[in-house]
Amino acid sequence: MAGETAGRVAGKVALVTGGASGIGRGCAEKLAAEGATVVLTDIQDELGREAASGIAAAGGRAEYARHDVTDEDAWASVVAGIKARHGRLDILVNNAGIGIGGSILDMSLADWRRQTAINLDGVFLGVKHSIPLMRESGGGGSIVNMSSVAGLKGSANLAGYCATKGGVRLFTKSVALECANARDGIRVNSVHPGLIETPIWITVQAAITPGANAMPDLDAMSAMAVPMGVKGVPEDIANGVLWLCSDEARYVTGMEMVIDGGLTLR
Ligand SMILES: NC(=O)c1ccc[n+]([C@@H]2O[C@H](COP(=O)([O-])OP(=O)(O)OC[C@H]3O[C@@H](n4cnc5c(N)ncnc54)[C@H](O)[C@@H]3O)[C@@H](O)[C@H]2O)c1
Repeated sequence: MAGETAGRVAGKVALVTGGASGIGRGCAEKLAAEGATVVLTDIQDELGREAASGIAAAGGRAEYARHDVTDEDAWASVVAGIKARHGRLDILVNNAGIGIGGSILDMSLADWRRQTAINLDGVFLGVKHSIPLMRESGGGGSIVNMSSVAGLKGSANLAGYCATKGGVRLFTKSVALECANARDGIRVNSVHPGLIETPIWITVQAAITPGANAMPDLDAMSAMAVPMGVKGVPEDIANGVLWLCSDEARYVTGMEMVIDGGLTLR
């Protein structure tokens, strides 16, 4: 329930990147439903505005801002805007990401760089520009970096994506230590989703079926690959993110939270 006093993240201000679609949207909705004021950002303006107005219609507090996570100036102005309008920042969900499937032999350097710029540089910039305002806000903070099961295990025809997500995993642990050393109360964790139904699969699936460019049959894929036999939905990830962002996780930092129906167990 949204409101001044109710909710597991009540009173906190959250920034969610890639919040217009899929997992980011699910996280924005969940955090707002549990009382946070949510600034969701993306490059898909229409979907982003729709997500924010949907949250408001459900009684939550949310606003949309256009924000390309690869643009350092945009990070500075988004964080400055949050400071000006809300006075503080408690939660950062570094979620924006893309997945480019296909043989590494066919990947252009431009695509490699684009994927790395969004998935890894974007996470670095988010951490760099958010920590100063979190420290100034007092009360600690929670940063969640969206990695993947592809940051834990290799995957044929997804090498570039795996490189970015593996990078996010160790970047997270290193920043967690830096914040712990600084005694600033900021916790930094990575989340590793398995097979979750979102539009990202339209581009990732070229890893499985070369040349394909439509949504794959995730039910069939999950029945074969996921020990629990079913795909996940954005809310499965949002529930974990909510816990990491709440004070219930006050002693948790540098953790890799795997939410994958058992995908990485074998
Ligand atoms: N869906 C899965 O199965 C799965 C599994 C593991 C990890 N993930 C990760 O979860 C995160 C969210 O992906 P999703 O599955 O919800 O996909 P999605 O495509 O639904 O959402 C990704 C969002 O990021 C935005 N985005 C892309 N480039 C951007 C940029 N330069 N600046 C700002 N926003 C940008 C897109 O517009 C989109 O709204 C990604 O980091 C992805 O790698 C997804």
